[in-house]
Amino acid sequence: MSPVRFLTGITTSGTPHLGNYVGSIRPAVRASLSPGVESFYFLADYHALIKIDEPARIQRSTLEIAASWLAAGLDPEKVTFYRQSDIPEIAELTWFLTCVTGKGVLNRAHAYKAAVDKNTASGMDPDSDVTAGLFMYPVLMGADILMFNAHKVPVGRDQIQHIEMARDMAASFNHRYGEHFVPPQAEIEESVATLPGLDGRKMSKSYDNTIPLFAPREQLKKLIAGVKTDSRLPGETKDTEGSALFQIYQAFASEEETEALRKSFADGIAWGDAKDILFERIDREIAPMRAAYEDFMAHPEKVEALLLTGAAKARAIATPFMAQLRSAVGLRSLGAAAQTQTTKTHKVALASFKQYREKDGQFYFKLAAADGTVLLQSKAFESGKAAGQAIAQLQRDGATGIAALQTQLEALDALAQSSATQALAAMAEAAEKK
Ligand code: TRP
Repeated sequence: MSPVRFLTGITTSGTPHLGNYVGSIRPAVRASLSPGVESFYFLADYHALIKIDEPARIQRSTLEIAASWLAAGLDPEKVTFYRQSDIPEIAELTWFLTCVTGKGVLNRAHAYKAAVDKNTASGMDPDSDVTAGLFMYPVLMGADILMFNAHKVPVGRDQIQHIEMARDMAASFNHRYGEHFVPPQAEIEESVATLPGLDGRKMSKSYDNTIPLFAPREQLKKLIAGVKTDSRLPGETKDTEGSALFQIYQAFASEEETEALRKSFADGIAWGDAKDILFERIDREIAPMRAAYEDFMAHPEKVEALLLTGAAKARAIATPFMAQLRSAVGLRSLGAAAQTQTTKTHKVALASFKQYREKDGQFYFKLAAADGTVLLQSKAFESGKAAGQAIAQLQRDGATGIAALQTQLEALDALAQSSATQALAAMAEAAEKK
């Protein structure tokens, strides 16, 4: 069975804080280690441009977020970790999706609607200070997800509407041009609580109540000393209910540790002592990662290299898939004119696979166009069965199959790749019609 594909993006507009760690980084790193999943994590820097027009801040945030995820244990060998803007296919796909998305649908997007409502309430022009970037936000996000045909998208509740819109985009595109996209699903982590911030409200950059994930030890201690408590004195029983300090502790501690603190609250622990316990517990988890983080921050070139490797991995999928999509919508080489024109009425001469054995005793196959042009040439396989399985994979997965089998195929240039992709798509379409 092919693995379940998870994908999520992190907007590069700030410095990761403990709330991001507990709510997103830690669960994502854990999930990426489970068997049977394939994960894609990316830095959503195109999205950041919607909110931020300070170039240095975008760059800084990109480094901080990448360094944080890597320090927290994301393994770039195991997952595909990349920067959105390194994948130009995403921008191109955004345009394709723009052309199948109703403007009225985007009018109803929460973030855009909130901006309009705010303007209207203050008697301004409804679209005052609203960029088309904000309006198009959901389409860019749809392209992020559909580019890699992700099945599951782990996000916060505020993003559910965007995933639903991506499903709609997938459906409208498929309806017009054939089955290319998998409808994605939002994956909401029910068990992960939102972390309260210094003032007890949800920890969030917009409330200015955050604790940076990799604050140096001394600063972390100071910040934790500032977590809001009530005015009960040492010896008085403290409430765990509604205590930000207790909730933050719970997000890091084991069940036994949490029970022990609950008992200390009942026994009237002094707030200062409770804060020391909280600080030590958080630092125990973060300290080993902090060293790695500081090393990445001191060597941005290491992070850059990892991201470029990730981009190459992502593009091995995105480039051939985009070629398939371009062909599907009719952006085709004129030389191949009418070749894959809808098979509805015309019978098209299809390409076909030929499997054979060479004198060396090894097994090979090629994909040849109707006129005999070789579109794909395999390298040697030890058995006919292995060659047959590779053919089946290409028939089933098209462009994704080509990417997956790269090392078993003779090198393809972009043009050959695009013809092969078109031929496979046409064959799949014809097979489906039978
Ligand atoms: N909009 C998401 C957020 O603010 C970030 C994001 C961008 C994203 N593209 C995505 C999340 C694709 C999941 C999938 O949290």
